[in-house]
Amino acid sequence: MSFDCAKFVERAIPKIQAQVGNSNALIALSGGVDSSVAAALVNRALGKKLKAVFLDTGFMREGEPESVRKNMFAIGLEVEVRDVKEEFFGVLKGVSDAEEKRKIFRETFYNIFGRESKTSGCEYLVQGTIAPDWIETQGGIKSQHNVLEQIGIDSKTKFGFKVLEPLAYLYKDQVRELGKYLGLSEEVFMRQPFPGPGLMVRCVGEVKKDKVASLSKSVAIVEKGIARSEAQQYFAAVFDSKGRSDIDATKTAQELLNDPKAEAFVFEAKGTGVKGDLRKYGNICGLSLSKKVPLPELEKKQLDIIIRNPEIARVLVKIEGRGKGPYCATIRAIRTRDFMTCGIVNLEWARLESMAAEILAKCPNIADVYYDVTPKPPATVEFE
Ligand code: XMP
Repeated sequence: MSFDCAKFVERAIPKIQAQVGNSNALIALSGGVDSSVAAALVNRALGKKLKAVFLDTGFMREGEPESVRKNMFAIGLEVEVRDVKEEFFGVLKGVSDAEEKRKIFRETFYNIFGRESKTSGCEYLVQGTIAPDWIETQGGIKSQHNVLEQIGIDSKTKFGFKVLEPLAYLYKDQVRELGKYLGLSEEVFMRQPFPGPGLMVRCVGEVKKDKVASLSKSVAIVEKGIARSEAQQYFAAVFDSKGRSDIDATKTAQELLNDPKAEAFVFEAKGTGVKGDLRKYGNICGLSLSKKVPLPELEKKQLDIIIRNPEIARVLVKIEGRGKGPYCATIRAIRTRDFMTCGIVNLEWARLESMAAEILAKCPNIADVYYDVTPKPPATVEFE
């Protein structure tokens, strides 16, 4: 049965009004589809009783604060932007474990909103949490930063506000339909998803300013180089280039791909994956091949590399590089219906090469550029 937006809104509005009562609410905007749709819905229910805040954590896409302001202004919501970059870089210094980073992000993010809710007299914090966020967090695959009560965190006691999640039982395609129904522009409701912790989860391992700067340029290049009609999500990730040539993985790759010159490099950097219902955190493997293997074949064969080399969680194939530099970048482009599973997009090599060349030209600290050929499972969409 298709999703009935009118009925959903008709039921949601009195519920939100009853819950907030005489109090006020604050919305944490991220620029993503979910928080924008939640803002549009709650704005209808609460009007002036809703205050919108965008935290500029330093992990936002290029030009994001301005575009969030503009898009929300169009539906009658004024957004205040807070520059909290230094606070986030400070608390994340020296931390490289993906889950630890997510937990620190969550703690810092909500402490700031705790302060905000106190100064603005808002009892509620509205969030754009959707069903896959809490399902995967409860399942132990990863801690989505916006999931609190579903995993037993009492936000009122810990941070000083109650959470309001009007989209908690919806899936992405329903959220998009709702966004359209509520009058958001297509640019907003059809936008590809962007994780709450932003570029932090694409800056694999320790967060550093020069690494995030190259990441943000690479993400912009990939967003420009791939069309929305080709992929449901497309971005870049950056990781440390340290690692070693691995004999076992090299042997597997040579045999599977019928390429005696193939080489597998296992990076110290780790990425997330899923195995069965559980989260796997393993090394990133980069393949250098002597011929251009069709991407659908690589997508199929990566699984054998992961099965035979259990420390590996994701497989990338090298597009181009200069072999020297502290970081590597990878392009990721996926096709999916519900983001719970995904396949990779079969992009032409010429296009991958042109994006890789632009990344190398604009980011002197990037040694090599790869394409991620791992579907979900065994990988996740994001790197951490
Ligand atoms: P994963 O990486 O779990 O991603 O396969 C599935 C979808 O969720 C997005 N994602 C997030 N969204 N907060 C969010 O709001 C998060 O912490 C988060 N982590 C992943 C991801 O971009 C993809 O669309």
